[in-house]
Amino acid sequence: MTAVEVRDLRRAYGSVRAVDGLSFTAPTAKVTAVLGRNGAGKTTTVEICAGLRPRDGGEVAVLGQDPWHNAALKPSIGVMPQAAGSGAAGVYPAARVGEVLRLFASFAAHPLDVDALLDRLDLARLAGTAWRRLSGGEQQRLSLALAVVGRPALVFLDEPTAGLDVAARHATWSLIEDLRTAGVSVVLTTHAMDEAEKLADHVVVVAAGRVVAAGSPAELTRDDGGTVRFTAVPGLPVAELAGRLAASVRETKPGQYVVTGAAAQAALTAVTAWCAERGVLPEHLSTGRRTLEDVFVELTA
Ligand SMILES: Nc1ncnc2c1ncn2[C@@H]1O[C@H](COP(=O)(O)OP(=O)(O)OP(=O)(O)O)[C@@H](O)[C@H]1O
Ligand SMILES: [Mg+2]
Repeated sequence: MTAVEVRDLRRAYGSVRAVDGLSFTAPTAKVTAVLGRNGAGKTTTVEICAGLRPRDGGEVAVLGQDPWHNAALKPSIGVMPQAAGSGAAGVYPAARVGEVLRLFASFAAHPLDVDALLDRLDLARLAGTAWRRLSGGEQQRLSLALAVVGRPALVFLDEPTAGLDVAARHATWSLIEDLRTAGVSVVLTTHAMDEAEKLADHVVVVAAGRVVAAGSPAELTRDDGGTVRFTAVPGLPVAELAGRLAASVRETKPGQYVVTGAAAQAALTAVTAWCAERGVLPEHLSTGRRTLEDVFVELTA
């Protein structure tokens, strides 16, 4: 059974079609990363799957059931909402960290050990602190703890590492890897391509409310011939080089160029000659596999 199965999902806010015929599946006991630019429809999709928002159309099966108005599903699902100001996680502002985590644990039949979880997310020293006094990153960590403490079969994590420091990011990654090992299905959203590449078994790329690509990171980054990357002055006329090589050339960030779809040797030679004709020095010229970031930029540019 798949943990989440979504077919032709639709949801509009007035005239904005936030989710517009979106289909994907999230396998059981795997990490699925949903990627997409701001406003692509990730949060709307996650909230519909988590039973927090109704849909206008399409089919959604979460652990085999329709999530909307489904109280029976609640104990099996953990949700970490996207951080957006205070109260995003549904926590009473005066509630203390330890109290609220114990309260959430008390709702579950077989919760995780609260003290161990507090330790793991570096929240133990904040156990007596009220939610409203936590920093943004501390609130994020508590919100993650609340999502997983009940040992759900499936967790939705909407940008779990946004705004976290390096140590907290690593603690979060290791927690997510352990969830997967324990058989938990994880659906997360992220803007960090390195995070998706490291954690995800399955990646879903969303643009304008639809899925534009899905597969494992290895499947999505597979390419013929290889990729050549270089740095030079911004704004070079890449279409000309692309024409010459019969390949794709993109300026992914100002001054950073990526050539795909050409044999690496031919691309290296062409880049060097083309830059020389312009009196431009290509720096950091390298060959290698495409990264998830390259693919993401191509798909969502
Ligand atoms: N409550 C709402 N009312 C009106 N429009 C909304 C509402 N929530 C989202 N939208 C719109 O729906 C679209 C999708 O929003 P959504 O929050 O799902 O995007 P997202 O992919 O999560 O973006 P981000 O990466 O910024 O979190 C956007 O155009 C947004 O402006
Ligand atoms: Mg969002």
